[in-house]
Amino acid sequence: MPGLHIQGGIPLNGEIAASGAKNAALPLLAACIMLKGTSILTNVPHLMDVFTMIKMLNSLGVRAELHKGNRVIINNTKKVRHIAPYDLVTAMRASFFVAGPLVARTGFAKVPLPGGCSIGSRPIDIHLKGFERLGVEHRIEHGFVEMKAKSLKGAVVHMDFPSVGATENVMMAASLAVGTTVIENAAREPEITDLGNFLNKAGAQITGHGTAVITIHGVPELTGTEHAVVSDRIEAGSLLLAGAITGGEVTVTNTVPEHSAPLLEKLREAGFQISVGPTWMKVDACSQFNGVDIETLPFPGFPTDMQAQMMALLTLANGTSIIKESIFENRFMHAHELMRMGAKIKLDNRHAIITGVPKLTAAEVKMTDLRAGAALILAALAAQGTTDIHGLKHLRRGYDDLPGKLRSLGARITE
Ligand code: UD1
Repeated sequence: MPGLHIQGGIPLNGEIAASGAKNAALPLLAACIMLKGTSILTNVPHLMDVFTMIKMLNSLGVRAELHKGNRVIINNTKKVRHIAPYDLVTAMRASFFVAGPLVARTGFAKVPLPGGCSIGSRPIDIHLKGFERLGVEHRIEHGFVEMKAKSLKGAVVHMDFPSVGATENVMMAASLAVGTTVIENAAREPEITDLGNFLNKAGAQITGHGTAVITIHGVPELTGTEHAVVSDRIEAGSLLLAGAITGGEVTVTNTVPEHSAPLLEKLREAGFQISVGPTWMKVDACSQFNGVDIETLPFPGFPTDMQAQMMALLTLANGTSIIKESIFENRFMHAHELMRMGAKIKLDNRHAIITGVPKLTAAEVKMTDLRAGAALILAALAAQGTTDIHGLKHLRRGYDDLPGKLRSLGARITE
């Protein structure tokens, strides 16, 4: 199984640019199903989930090609097929993003149930309730969700929970509905703002994206456009923590510091010196820091996608930290691996109680999911000795060459 070999104890220093956001690129690519003609996405990260979504578009009859310079060119000139292949949807839950665009464009969609994953059961009921409000009929049979609608009609859609994926799916479908849709209790993540901006460039009429109430006036057609994917706040945060955990000084560029505000606030509370500019953020070298308590929440709360990496940092803090994971029910798998490296962590249902230790030591560990992988890399960068981390496929799903970026800051990592 491919893995990483990391020599710990070297402070990382320097400047590194963050890539475009995986979680923005995926819905943007899916949205291209609805855009007639040619679209160009730039700042697209090179990672497996993006490659899977590109394959998905091609399998649906929408030609998408990754070009040099992180550009994807999408040509949508042929008839769109409405059946999403089983292997692509089960390989990546975010494939379900094609459901809204497909039903809006063709009146039909047949998409395999995405199923759960290692961090939780991840149902799609909020997506389906939203589609229902827009007039989409659905049935679940033989493991597929079949959807059909003569035409989509604008409606008030109240989300029981501000689901990121459901907000995006409903927002995309509603762009081509007849009449006005209002999404209440919408998710407010920066990736949703990016999707709204993209759709508006394509001719949609969306306001309020980035707030809890999004209004979408449906339009008859969307046309191809060009857009740069927003910077990845989770990758940027992971790189900043690589500086913090190794006692180094790291500046992350090509980023939007406000998108990382909940993380930066917690780092300051822990005692780190953080500075920010319009498109960069920097952590200064710091040898001692304190434990902090964290609860993961929808944006602008602390992101669940930074929880594992923050836990890695807090294993070395002075004192005790408590992390409450409020978004996913099973997102502490990394804790067991961190304990193999000497971390002191007690798990109690949704809570992790972390008692800081003076040092971590190298061990053989495995990534169980994407962000768990990043957390183990951070721990290994700080640990004494050389750590072997298995399960590189998880990391490749969602990070654009994280080992290479860390190497450019001085890390000793081999694959
Ligand atoms: C997106 C992100 C993921 C991030 C998550 C939360 C992408 C591609 N992925 O995932 O990295 O961790 O947001 O910030 O953007 N839920 C339901 N029913 C639904 C939908 C969701 O119960 O129909 C629950 C989920 O099980 C979970 C919670 O709502 O407990 C949050 O899920 P959601 O916001 O939908 O996350 P995703 O869009 O799947």
